[in-house]
This record gives sequence, structure tokens and C-alpha cells, in this order.
Amino acid sequence: MDVSKTYFVTGGAGNIACQLTFPLAGAGDRVILFDIAEMPASAVADGCQYVQGDITDREQIKKAIGHYAPTTVLHLASLLSGSTEEDRELGWRVNVDGAFGLLQESLRQGVRTVVFPSSLAAYGAPLPVPVPEDHPQWPRSLYGVTKVAIERLGNYYHQQHGLDFRCLRLPIVISAQARPGAVSGYVSRAYIAACQQDPFVFQVREQSSPALIYIKDVVRAILGLATAEESRLSRRVYNVQALSPTAGQVCAAIQARRPESELRFQTDPAVTALIDSWPVRFDDQSSRRDWNWQPEYGLETMSDDFCQQLARPGPAG
Ligand SMILES: NC(=O)c1ccc[n+]([C@@H]2O[C@H](COP(=O)([O-])OP(=O)(O)OC[C@H]3O[C@@H](n4cnc5c(N)ncnc54)[C@H](O)[C@@H]3O)[C@@H](O)[C@H]2O)c1
Repeated sequence: MDVSKTYFVTGGAGNIACQLTFPLAGAGDRVILFDIAEMPASAVADGCQYVQGDITDREQIKKAIGHYAPTTVLHLASLLSGSTEEDRELGWRVNVDGAFGLLQESLRQGVRTVVFPSSLAAYGAPLPVPVPEDHPQWPRSLYGVTKVAIERLGNYYHQQHGLDFRCLRLPIVISAQARPGAVSGYVSRAYIAACQQDPFVFQVREQSSPALIYIKDVVRAILGLATAEESRLSRRVYNVQALSPTAGQVCAAIQARRPESELRFQTDPAVTALIDSWPVRFDDQSSRRDWNWQPEYGLETMSDDFCQQLARPGPAG
């Protein structure tokens, strides 16, 4: 029999966190959302508790973990790539110092499992296709550097202190609720612009094809890893592959559904250099073997669902 769990979700007001609340609450689990924002960015499931707080404030983290005694922490609080580059001091404080304090408190207060989403930005060019699971990591962005730091930190807490740290390197997340702050948000923004009948300019090359993943698959991946039998895990940091269309193919998929949309390409060398430094495809054989990872959405199904979500906003879009 499954015993219900208490999930403490940092970055609980964010896009991915809000979507995670529905399956968690649906399974009867208790969900505590912790975030510096005043309120969640989009709808959350009924029954979730919301705590406004700062991940960099150790006292607040200590008190919250002590009070709610979570079995599992989903650590999603972060500045994204663009914001980290714009304010490096804050980016390091939130992403790295925040994670360190959270891991310390999780260990000290007996949290069983901590799950952390790393990113394709944790790698940097030149990269083979697919990127092997243990390929050297030399990210170009500070955001990527913070992701590598937390991967190593979590692995240390597991190896030296027995904390059940689990991490998955996600491709670029495609979501109707994507917020500004991520360089990688251009694919989501193209869909949103087209559905709202706004013009959109792709700043990448038509051939640019960083790995992508639809938000509904992100939710499945995070929960798949979070709930996997620990004895089946052969590693602590997993690659996750879903789909890798070119920007030109994404543009065509949008135009097929919104023929009136005004989409064009005007390559920005700096944006393109960064996006093209990221993995095109991950080797994710360990995820598939250890916790049965399998994406459900490809380009066509994702495009259909995305456009439907924008026509009818709600959970998981
Ligand atoms: N969106 C993507 O493409 C993508 C890809 C790979 C990994 N990820 C990772 O997934 C996680 C969630 O991403 P998201 O897309 O939901 O982003 P998001 O920006 O929607 O959510 C991040 C949340 O962190 C919160 N936050 C920022 N500073 C904080 C602080 N000091 N204290 C507490 N909360 C704070 C923000 O208010 C925000 O609600 C992040 O770790 C991100 O790096 C995202």
C-alpha cells in the first residue's frame, strides 16, 4: 500500500512547480509550496499550502522544514539563465548558496529524498550527438555553472552523508505558462505569440535544434525519478531526452496550426552561440532502464496540445 508523502516544493510559485501540484495532490500527497513570490504564477491544485519565503534565508528554511517535516523536497527555486547572467551575485546566492542551505537542513532534519532539476545548460560546446551521460561539463553560462555545482553538491551529500539526492538534466521546457527570464524560452514564446496573433522573431538559426521537452513530460519525469525504487538507481544524476526538432521544424509545426501567424528568423549571433552550445540530444539510457523514463510527447502531439492549452488555460500546459 502506498503511504502518502509530504512534498516541500521550493520555487513553488514557478511554472513547473504549479503543474506538479495536480498529480501530487491527486495522489493524496500533502504539498507545501515555498517561494519568494507573493503567489503562484498559475493555478495550483486544491489543498496545497503556500509559504512565502526566501531560499537564501537559512532560518526560514530551517523553520519551514522543521515545521512541515517533508519526506521529499523538490528543489525548484532558481534564477533562470537570463536572470542569472543579468545579476551574477544574486544568481549565485539563490542557486548555489540556496541549494547548499537546503541540502544542509534536509540532512540535519532527516528529509529522506531531495530531487533537483538540472539543465542541458550544464554542458557546453563542442558536444557529440547524443551527449553521453558522463560527458565532461564545461558550461558557457553562469546558470549552467550553478547547475553543475549543485549536481556535484548533491552527489557529495549522497556519497558522504547518505542523503537520497536525485537529479535530472532537463532539456528546454516547452510550456504555455513559460515566464520571462530564460534565454531558452524562445520556443514557448513562439507558440504563445502565434496563438495570440502576435508577430514573433526567432533569434536562432533555422537549423538550431537544442533538446526540448513538453511540460507534461517534465512533470512525469520529475515524479518518475522522485518515486523510483532507490535500489534501482545506478546513479544520482540522469540525462532526460524527449524531442530535438530544428527551429525551422518548430516554426513549420506552429504555422501548420496557426497559418495566419507572423513568424520569421533574424539570427542574433550571441543568442545563437549560446543555444547552439547546448545538447541536441541526450543519451538517457540509464533513465530509461532505472526508472522507466519514456517521453509521451513528440513535435506534433506537443504542438496540438500547446495550442489547445492556450485556447483553454488550466493545469499542465
Ligand atoms: N524552464 C526550463 O526550460 C528549465 C529547464 C531545465 C531546468 N529547469 C529548472 O527547473 C526549475 C524550475 O523552473 P521553472 O521553469 O518552473 O522556473 P520559474 O522561474 O517559473 O520558477 C522558479 C521559481 O523560483 C523562485 N525563486 C527565485 N528566487 C527565489 C528565492 N530567493 N527564494 C525562493 N524562491 C525563489 C521564483 O520566484 C520562481 O517562482 C529551476 O531549477 C530551473 O532551473 C527549468
